[in-house]
Amino acid sequence: MQDRFQRQIQYLRISVTDRCNLRCVYCMPAEGVRSIPHNEILTMEEIAAIVEAGVQVGIKKVRLTGGEPLVRRGILDLVKNLSRIPEIDDIAITTNGILLAEMAADLKAAGVNRVNISLDTLRAGRFKRITRGGCLDTVRRGINAALETGLNPVKINTVAIRGFNDDELLSLARLTLDHPLHIRFIELMPIGTADGWDRARFISSAEVRELITGALGTLEDVKNVRGNGPARYSRLPGGRGTIGFISAVSNHFCTRCNRLRLTATGQLRPCLFNHREMDLKEPLRAGAGREELVRVFHEAILSKPNGHDLAVNWQEDDRIMSQIGG
Ligand code: GTP
Ligand code: 5AD
Ligand code: SF4
Repeated sequence: MQDRFQRQIQYLRISVTDRCNLRCVYCMPAEGVRSIPHNEILTMEEIAAIVEAGVQVGIKKVRLTGGEPLVRRGILDLVKNLSRIPEIDDIAITTNGILLAEMAADLKAAGVNRVNISLDTLRAGRFKRITRGGCLDTVRRGINAALETGLNPVKINTVAIRGFNDDELLSLARLTLDHPLHIRFIELMPIGTADGWDRARFISSAEVRELITGALGTLEDVKNVRGNGPARYSRLPGGRGTIGFISAVSNHFCTRCNRLRLTATGQLRPCLFNHREMDLKEPLRAGAGREELVRVFHEAILSKPNGHDLAVNWQEDDRIMSQIGG
């Protein structure tokens, strides 16, 4: 269905849990965040019912996010149920990769097409610091499992952070020469926690691109990487994979926005940067049928704002990134 600004809304990002088995410094405060009580989180059946309503307004693509979606029990059954909905033609997952080595084959068998894996550094000590305790080797094994299982494409999400991983951006870009990986450099968004992970750490996509072209050669635009998100892709000469840029701060992609978000607690969120939400959980639990849910989808799509203003103070929002799902 089209919104008021002629954008076709087809993509639903579903946060299946606010919980995570890591605590990345730019995402969560050191003490973590208080978990939302289980009964406030949508059940898998409720999520499936919401997606079935979503397809009535044209949702065709879903992405499961978190927190960390793979820590949610029942995730495989949810994927199986979603893959039985004929209108849904793409089921993807965004994960930190910790549980991927053990789950990649089952995810693929259940109906997941592709995965995006977070990886901000190739150094074990740094990885441990940025994730507050995570093991890099476990994620590496997860990435290999995803490639071997035939999840395709396998994309890597790297947030470029000055003074933290800017000396590794070239090494990460070089991975695309020998591996069929799609490395996406993401601009650090001024959301989540302060903790010093702020504007001084910001590196623009233009700067990363310049660094790469200066050292590794011309980047050629690539148009056919499967995906529904805002990344723009290029390839190094002879590269097997691609390099993507997600310019979340420097270049708003609002005019191309095609998505709604579903929070773990059951609210449809029309825009990442706008705290306005429409509740689906209450009506669902009060016995609402599909038509009523479809009506809420309509309302959410028609209330999608034209764009967002990052100057708006995110810290005033009552949710952090891991509760919305990125
Ligand atoms: P593909 O379908 O593979 O293109 O997925 P994606 O890039 O939409 O998903 P992913 O969950 O991997 O997100 C990558 C980065 O893009 C994360 O940092 C997200 O927060 C960011 N992102 C995704 N959608 C939006 C959006 O609508 N606005 C902004 N500002 N950032 C977004
Ligand atoms: N800015 C940019 N990207 C972020 N992510 C989490 N917090 C931020 C932020 N403040 C990324 C994670 C993950 C993706 C879903 O969102 O690194 O790859
Ligand atoms: Fe977990 Fe992802 Fe947040 Fe890291 S960025 S703490 S992996 S939700």
